[in-house]
Amino acid sequence: MPVEIYQSQVAGHDSGVTWFCCVDNGISLFEKQYPLADGMSYDSYIIEDEKLVVVDTVDHAVEAAWMAAVGAFLESHGRRPDFLIVQHLEPDHSAAIEAFMSFYPECRLVCSVKAAGMLGQFARGIDAARVMPVKEGDILPIGSRELRFAMAPMVHWPEVMVTYDPKTRILFSADAFGTFGGSLAASIARGEKDCSSLEKEWPEEARRYYINICGKYGPQVQGLLKKAASLDIRYLCPLHGPVVDVEAYNPVGLYDKWSRYEPELTQECLVVAASLHGNTVEAARVFASMMEEEGVETTLLDLSEADLSEAVSRAFACGATVFMSATYDASLVPSMRALLSRLKSKNWQKRYVGIVENGSWAPIAAGVIAKELGEMKSLTVVGEPVTIRTRLDESSEAALRSLASAMAATIKEKGEVAV
Ligand SMILES: Cc1cc2nc3c(=O)[nH]c(=O)nc-3n(C[C@H](O)[C@H](O)[C@H](O)COP(=O)(O)O)c2cc1C
Ligand SMILES: [Fe+2]
Ligand SMILES: [Fe+2]
Repeated sequence: MPVEIYQSQVAGHDSGVTWFCCVDNGISLFEKQYPLADGMSYDSYIIEDEKLVVVDTVDHAVEAAWMAAVGAFLESHGRRPDFLIVQHLEPDHSAAIEAFMSFYPECRLVCSVKAAGMLGQFARGIDAARVMPVKEGDILPIGSRELRFAMAPMVHWPEVMVTYDPKTRILFSADAFGTFGGSLAASIARGEKDCSSLEKEWPEEARRYYINICGKYGPQVQGLLKKAASLDIRYLCPLHGPVVDVEAYNPVGLYDKWSRYEPELTQECLVVAASLHGNTVEAARVFASMMEEEGVETTLLDLSEADLSEAVSRAFACGATVFMSATYDASLVPSMRALLSRLKSKNWQKRYVGIVENGSWAPIAAGVIAKELGEMKSLTVVGEPVTIRTRLDESSEAALRSLASAMAATIKEKGEVAV
């Protein structure tokens, strides 16, 4: 099935909060660039109280199915929507606003002041009188509960806000605490898995999602975490991926680490290699086994095979990264250039780095890598950059070994965050 929709009660049977987990199984690239192994989920919620509230719409790919499911739900409950809360205008959440607001003409739209100013770009024909802009701390009473709004600018767009329901202790967190993929969210929504499985199954793809989508905005995410710390939260209801019961699995510590740009795996090393004919990748294999011999767990990514978003995510996870590139037209192999530029744009920092170049007549990749890394914050270059001329020989292999022991010693001794 290209599109699946699951409905699941959040926070117990009488909470009045229903999660609509909408899975697009047909999508292979999110934002036309991030590979997806098992589709993507878009979450929307209904809060039933004296007033009926819908929290966010969905992507165009699941819009028709979502409209039908929400319509059937409302009909079977004998209700009409009073408010549509729009927390984020990006098209993956705003595609259905226009259709929803025209189908339910009595419904009012609640969004941040910033979003109210941008709304017309994403949904046309909504009378301004139907739009209720809200500010930090504003309250929407809906019967037995008062929803509270907090602004979360640049998590991931400037108009983003989040919504707190004190009755159920739910934080509707917009893109924060989202993840790539469809099947994990689906199996939690279907009740086949519970949130304790998230400890194992959530971090890898949630990290790749967070770093690539929001990674640039660490200070703003820190701001949101500070606001969240003052709230009593039991459930995180994001716009992608599973609802998270923080009593079963709490991802806040990881978000704190990611948004501070601190590594999770301080004792692990990543080796990224960019090759034309394969000799640099071969040298990277040798280097990775030297690191393993030194007792450091090491991951090798050949940039001709690994996806860029995976390499970026891995570099954020590890405490140290060694960059190895052949020289290409007096510069870097394009995949290495792309990785460095993506790391810079995501504010990668506070890590140990090593540099290895290859070249047959005028190797200059090391200097280019060093210049790129020099433009990032708080990186410590470990050991001497190594030069390989076409293939490893005795002297370049010895230089690689020195780099491996210097890197291993640094990782083991300094351990924690590089400054
Ligand atoms: C299109 C192209 C451009 C290259 N430009 C340079 C260069 O500017 N300087 C240099 O020393 N080697 C250059 N090389 C040679 C490679 O860097 C060298 O052969 C290296 O050993 C290749 O490593 P690999 O086997 O990992 O691809 C170039 C090779 C190609 C195919
Ligand atoms: Fe977004
Ligand atoms: Fe999103």
